[in-house]
Amino acid sequence: MDDNLFTKRLGEPVQTDQVSESDAEGNILLRDSVLIDKLSAFDRERIPERVVHAKGWGAHGEFVPTRDMSGYTLAGLFTKVGKKFRVLVRFSTVAGGRDSADTVRDPRGFAVKFYTDEGIHDIVCNNTPVFFIRDPMKFPDFIHSQKKNPQTNLTDPNAQWDFLSLTPESLNQVTVLFSDQGIPYGFRFMDGFGTNTFSWYNQSGDYVYIKYHFLSEQGLKNLDPDEAARIAGENPDFAGEDLRNAIARGDYPSWRVAVQIMTPQQAKTYRFDPFDTTKTWYESDFPLIEIGRLTLNRNPGNFFNEIEQAAFCPANMVPGTSASPDKMLQGRMFAYSDAQRYRLGVNFNRVAVNASASPVFNYQRDGDLAENPVNPVNYYPNSMQEVRFSKRVRTVPPGVTAPVTRDVQPIKDIDFVQPRDRFLAMDEAQRSRLMNNIAESLGGAEKRIQYRSAALFYKTEPRYGTGIAERLKLNLREVRRLSELTQKELEYATGRK
Ligand code: HEM
Repeated sequence: MDDNLFTKRLGEPVQTDQVSESDAEGNILLRDSVLIDKLSAFDRERIPERVVHAKGWGAHGEFVPTRDMSGYTLAGLFTKVGKKFRVLVRFSTVAGGRDSADTVRDPRGFAVKFYTDEGIHDIVCNNTPVFFIRDPMKFPDFIHSQKKNPQTNLTDPNAQWDFLSLTPESLNQVTVLFSDQGIPYGFRFMDGFGTNTFSWYNQSGDYVYIKYHFLSEQGLKNLDPDEAARIAGENPDFAGEDLRNAIARGDYPSWRVAVQIMTPQQAKTYRFDPFDTTKTWYESDFPLIEIGRLTLNRNPGNFFNEIEQAAFCPANMVPGTSASPDKMLQGRMFAYSDAQRYRLGVNFNRVAVNASASPVFNYQRDGDLAENPVNPVNYYPNSMQEVRFSKRVRTVPPGVTAPVTRDVQPIKDIDFVQPRDRFLAMDEAQRSRLMNNIAESLGGAEKRIQYRSAALFYKTEPRYGTGIAERLKLNLREVRRLSELTQKELEYATGRK
C-alpha cells in the first residue's frame, strides 16, 4: 500500500482533495462523492459536550500502590505494591461550555481511570473535599442555577445565589469556592478528592468506608481574581497548556494517593453523617493513610480520541471496592454512564481509552456501532457454553434494614459547624479576600437574596455575615434579625413579595 495515498472514508483513492467536480459554468455535480464524503464527515464532527465539566484536558500516566491494604480490600489496585497500573486523568472546570476559560472561579474536576486486570476502576474527583448538595435529586436544579440564564443566556448571579441561599447545606462548599483556593493556577497545583464515601471489603467480606484523596506533590498554587481574569482574556487554555508543556518537558506531575478509613461501627456514632457530601471527615478523627502514587507522564496523541471521548463513571469499580449509603454517589453511579450513552452512544466502551484492559465476556449485543464477539450464543442461561462468575464480588453493606422514606433532610445546627471551622481557620487577610469574593458575586443578585445569603453567613459565624453585609451595604440589624429565623421563616421573609 502506498504511504499516505489519499482516499475517501472507505479507502477509494481520489484524484484531488481540493477541487469540486463542476460544469463549465461552475455548478457542482451531485455525483461528486469526494466532496460529499468530505463535507458530510465535517458536518458531523461535533458530539454533544458533557452536560457539566465540558471544558477539560487530560493525560496518561501510572499509579503505583505503595502499601498493601489487603487487610481492608482484595482489589489488586490497592494491594499489589510496586505494580504499575496504567491510568488516564481528565481535569476540567464545571460550569463553562467546551471552549470556556480555564481560569475561572469554579470547582475543578479530577477524574481518574485505572486500567486493572479486573476491569476499569474510576475515581471521579473534584479539587474540593465537599459538595454543594447532598441529594442527587437537587443536581439538575443546582446546575441550571449556576449555568446560563435560559432567557438571556448570560451568567446569572441572581439564580446562583437564590439557589445557594435556599440550599444552606452548600455553605461549606461555597466557603471553599470563594476562598483563595477557588481559582487554582493549573491542574498540577491542586488536590483531588473522591468526596463521596465508598467502601472496601476484604477476603472475609469485612467492609469499611473509604474516602479518597490525591495530594499534589507540586504543592497548591492559586490565582488571585484579577490575575485570573487577565489570563482568561489572554489565554483561555492556560491550565491545559501548563499541563501539556510540563509533561512535554519531562516535568511529570504527581500526586500522593491516600485514604481515610471508617469502620461501620464508627459510622454509626460519628458526629457528622459520614455519607453527607457537604461534610468532610476530620483528619484528626480519621487520619490519612498513604496508599500509592499517581504520575502523569504522557500527553494524549489525539485530544478527541483520548480526552473528549473519555467516559468516567463512579459506578466503575473493581472487586474489593463498592458503594455506600451515600445518596450522591448512588445518583452519580447512574448518571455518568447514562450521559455517555447519549453523548457517545451505547457502545462507548469501543473507544480505546474506555475499553477494559482485561477480557470482557457477557451476552450484551448490538446497538449503534456494535462490534459483537463471534459467538453463536447470545443468551443466558444456556446449555452450550460454560461460564464462570466471580466469587470475589460482594454486596456491601450486606443487609438493608431501615424503612424506605422520602423525608426532607432538615437544615440543622451541625450543618453550620464545618463552614464555621473553615472560616475560623483562615487568617484575617484570607477572610477578607473570601468576603470580597463573595460580595463581588452576590452583589449581582437582588437585595432580598443578598439579605437571605448574608443571614446564612451570619448564622455560620457573625463576623462572616457582618463582613459581607458591610461590603454590600446591607442593614446589619436586619441581617442579624434574619439570621435568627429558621430556614423556612428566612425563606418566607426573603421570598418574592
Ligand atoms: C448527584 C450529583 C452529581 C451528578 C448527577 C453528576 C453528573 C455528572 C454528569 C452527567 C457528568 C457528565 C459525564 C459525561 O458526559 O461523561 C459529570 C461529569 C463530572 N462530574 Fe459529576 N455529577 C454529580 C456530582 C459530582 C461530584 C460530587 C463530583 C466530584 C466529587 C463530580 C465530578 C465530576 C467530574 C470530574 C466530571 C467530569 C468527568 C470527565 O472528566 O469526563 N460530580 N457529572
